[in-house]
Amino acid sequence: MFNFHYFTPTEVVFGRNAENHIGELIKKQGVGKVLIHYGSGSVVRSGLLDRIKSSLDDENIAYAELGGVVPNPRLSLVYKGIELCKKENVELILAVGGGSAIDSAKAIGYGAVNEGDVWDFYDGKRKATGCLPIGVVLTLSATGSEMSDSSVITKEEGWIKRGYSSDFGRPAFAVMNPELTLTLPDYQTACGCADILMHTMERYFTSGGNMEITDSIAEALMRTVIANAKILRDDPKNYEARAEIMWAGSLSHNGLTGCGNNGGDWATHKLEHEISGIFDVAHGAGLAAIWGAWARYTYKNCLDRFYKYAVNVMGIKEEGSKDEISLSGIKATENFFREINMPTSLSELQIYPTEEQILLMANKCALATNGSVGSARKLVESDMAAIYRSAK
Ligand code: NZQ
Ligand code: ZN
Repeated sequence: MFNFHYFTPTEVVFGRNAENHIGELIKKQGVGKVLIHYGSGSVVRSGLLDRIKSSLDDENIAYAELGGVVPNPRLSLVYKGIELCKKENVELILAVGGGSAIDSAKAIGYGAVNEGDVWDFYDGKRKATGCLPIGVVLTLSATGSEMSDSSVITKEEGWIKRGYSSDFGRPAFAVMNPELTLTLPDYQTACGCADILMHTMERYFTSGGNMEITDSIAEALMRTVIANAKILRDDPKNYEARAEIMWAGSLSHNGLTGCGNNGGDWATHKLEHEISGIFDVAHGAGLAAIWGAWARYTYKNCLDRFYKYAVNVMGIKEEGSKDEISLSGIKATENFFREINMPTSLSELQIYPTEEQILLMANKCALATNGSVGSARKLVESDMAAIYRSAK
């Protein structure tokens, strides 16, 4: 077991009508002006934005607004948001939406209180010394950004997608009403479930030093996500299943499922960020498309944990060697992705990278990871290219 630091300062208000508390939550922060930050229109169409504005009006909270965040959120809008925050003396950013709106809000928050170019943080050149407080009204269960320390931004010049993690970026509060996810297209719901599952898998497949209580929590979380993802495939309006997935999303990426292990593997995420950075696909679908190739490349180096996962999470009961059972667990996971209409290869994701693009993605991934990534198996640039090739 490794020593760990577990920090989850986010106040969570969960359940039906949770967004009615937004005014009081902002009041509690003692701030003057708020920037409401959102995406490309779903929160306008659902009427959520109007309800939020009227609850701020009721509490006499002043606000500016900035919409237009797109999936794989762009640096250019972050710069625009930073200017706006400075001009309007914004003291808190309220992200209304999914991971992209939240991540963009965090980036704006860093840029508003730190001198210099905010991209430096994402580029690994320096560390932020603060962030404007972030509040969240979550409309998509997926990234866990509502409680996580991470923010992932895409710089259009060169299509470089990079993450930055800092405790300063952890939201002060998150309002989570599972009903707000009822308007999601089925595809986005499934992408979210894949991402949630993967945030715990990344922490689970590590080499050594693991903690029994963490494994048990992780395995229960993964089983719950798999079961409820299937319920939502057949019954997208099921509130209970929406709620299970929403809370699993937060717990999967707030650090809980990694306490005591050695920090996680994260290769699938790093490999995926290069795919969505270049091809602009949904993050969860990109993860599902690459995971099988990564798992087959890796499992022999982390056999005990792939075996444990196969038995405890995927319910593999057949007789066989650890190697055979582990492979059955990988196959069962891919079958689960297919069952919820997620891709299990790049061609199923409808992208067909050339050898040149594969080498480019591998090179960018190696650059983003200072040369290597992975705990279950350490990958260098040639391994990354091999995995992209076998995921075709
Ligand atoms: O922009 P709008 O119009 O709101 O539409 C969005 C978007 O098109 C739509 N949507 C969201 N809520 C909806 C809805 N449509 C109907 N009804 C609703 N209730 O869904 C689409 C996808 O939204 P987005 O926010 O992009 O999805 P997601 O939450 O999956 O976020 C993905 C981004 O987060 C990053 C990913 O790489 C990607 O850039 N990640 C962030 C992490 C973090 N901060 O901790 C960790 C993750 O591993 C991930 O890398
Ligand atoms: Zn993710």
